[in-house]
Amino acid sequence: MATTDTPLDEARVQEFVGRFAGDLGAALHQTTVIIGDKLGLYAAMGDCVPVTPGELAERTGTEERYVREWLCAQAASGYVEYDAAAERFRLTPEQAACLADRESPTFLPGAFYIAASLVKDEPALTERFRTGEGFGWHEHDGDLFCGTELFFRPGYVANLVPSWLPALGVDDKLRAGGTVADIGCGHGASTIVMAQAFPNSRFVGFDLHEGSVEVARQAAERAGVGDRVRFEVAGAKDFPGRDYDLVCVFDALHDMGDPVGAAAHVREALAPDGTWLIVEPMAGDRVEDNLNPVGRIFYSASTLICTPCSRSQEVGLALGAQAGEQRLRAVVTEAGFTRFRRATETPFNLILEARP
Ligand SMILES: C[S@@+](CC[C@H](N)C(=O)[O-])C[C@H]1O[C@@H](n2cnc3c(N)ncnc32)[C@H](O)[C@@H]1O
Repeated sequence: MATTDTPLDEARVQEFVGRFAGDLGAALHQTTVIIGDKLGLYAAMGDCVPVTPGELAERTGTEERYVREWLCAQAASGYVEYDAAAERFRLTPEQAACLADRESPTFLPGAFYIAASLVKDEPALTERFRTGEGFGWHEHDGDLFCGTELFFRPGYVANLVPSWLPALGVDDKLRAGGTVADIGCGHGASTIVMAQAFPNSRFVGFDLHEGSVEVARQAAERAGVGDRVRFEVAGAKDFPGRDYDLVCVFDALHDMGDPVGAAAHVREALAPDGTWLIVEPMAGDRVEDNLNPVGRIFYSASTLICTPCSRSQEVGLALGAQAGEQRLRAVVTEAGFTRFRRATETPFNLILEARP
């Protein structure tokens, strides 16, 4: 076993320092991405035509010297391209698809709002490591709620109606007219996406967080689906209603204090031939399966968001965001479901189906 007296392998130290330099650059870059999104700097480059800092500043009503430095930071991060001969910067079409358009299925900056919220919450989270107490979803900085919606919505737009619901075989039922409950709905992005696609169905979203429910209500009105979509404050173990054709839980089961209790309540609330759609972060069953870039993101989010959230609630099981399919199957079958399968997947998500 290595001790403090073991001579260091210099090459491995250098390798680690190189890795750290990449991480530090990304950590500092995070704030420049949020600024670029908020000020419309990426959006103003969305046509992919090369610009000078002065042109971009003028287009966005910002100050040229700041914009020049920001553009250099983007170029060094690979977020824009720099043409040294022309002294101009541009977004490639691929960068524009990921950065310039909030409606794009590959829009990414929402993730950095999530990361920013956690920097602000760090003192409280550090204290929770000492005390073991939980830290509820509602206690976080508001950037977490907006960032979650911004980051997750493109995935729901791209996958939910074309892929996930057909994989569960429930789309025909929803086309004809069904009832759907979305538990832990947050800002209601998934609920509204489904409501827009299935005008004969009725939808209700439940969440413990009052602020998110209010935002979801306003979003439904703006989307023109307010007559068929309700949002209410309720928990996963006591939300009202019976005989739902479909109950959905998007990226929230592992946040719950008592996922087995929640699963038991979902089972009671479903129609006998109803379906439970569970979307969870992609994960293998063993820690060693998840020591990769996706697992890195989710283990950190789980440490700072999901585990403290679960511990703030009754039971406090703290499944973690990398629970994996086997552990999730155990939760669902303990609650009395007889059928459970992986219906489909994306690089970021497990799409699971449970039936009574
Ligand atoms: C990671 S967010 C996901 C939000 C939304 N489903 C989405 O995909 O955008 C987790 C959500 O679960 C909610 N939540 C956590 N525990 C809950 C519980 N026991 N009952 C209902 N909602 C809960 C939180 O308030 C939060 O809005």
